[in-house]
Amino acid sequence: MRVIPVYYYSSASGLVRSFAQRLERPVHDLAQREVRLSEADGPWVLLTPSYKTGNDANDTVPEAVRRFLRSAANRRRLVGVIGSGNRNFGRYYQDAARLVARASGRPVLFEFELAGTPWDVEECRRLLADLDAALDASRADRPLDEGPAGTGRPEER
Ligand SMILES: Cc1cc2nc3c(=O)[nH]c(=O)nc-3n(C[C@H](O)[C@H](O)[C@H](O)COP(=O)(O)O)c2cc1C
Repeated sequence: MRVIPVYYYSSASGLVRSFAQRLERPVHDLAQREVRLSEADGPWVLLTPSYKTGNDANDTVPEAVRRFLRSAANRRRLVGVIGSGNRNFGRYYQDAARLVARASGRPVLFEFELAGTPWDVEECRRLLADLDAALDASRADRPLDEGPAGTGRPEER
């Protein structure tokens, strides 16, 4: 069975990296140039913090995440989004994960604060394992490029 990889961005404080490394599955760091310029070879999940920049647009999606999502193939193969945030940011809590989910029509799979609790890690491992199994069941004889299972959405976006 294919294990869905998680592509994550984490800043120097590394809270998301620490969470990603506890997921017990392939994880790819979008802070590395060759990773953010690559294409996922099948369904993948995004794990992103939110960073309110304070500029006029109040962008919260990390630039590395934007760069990876510039690829139509990556956008097509995205299955869902996991967010890390901090409730102190009020209405911007999890803004980046929610924004990417809204723009892509994919679900927010899970949200946690900062580096997450052991329960968060456990819960996330479980839901990703469920996703592996669900995609495996629906993949039989589907060509790779049709996009995430069940979305019925093969078009470029
Ligand atoms: C400058 C700054 C801006 C942030 N903006 C937000 C925000 O808008 N919404 C939110 O939920 N969390 C926000 N956070 C919290 C981070 O998303 C959270 O701490 C995350 O775990 C950081 O992950 P990292 O250490 O892997 O980069 C912000 C943190 C910093 C330092």
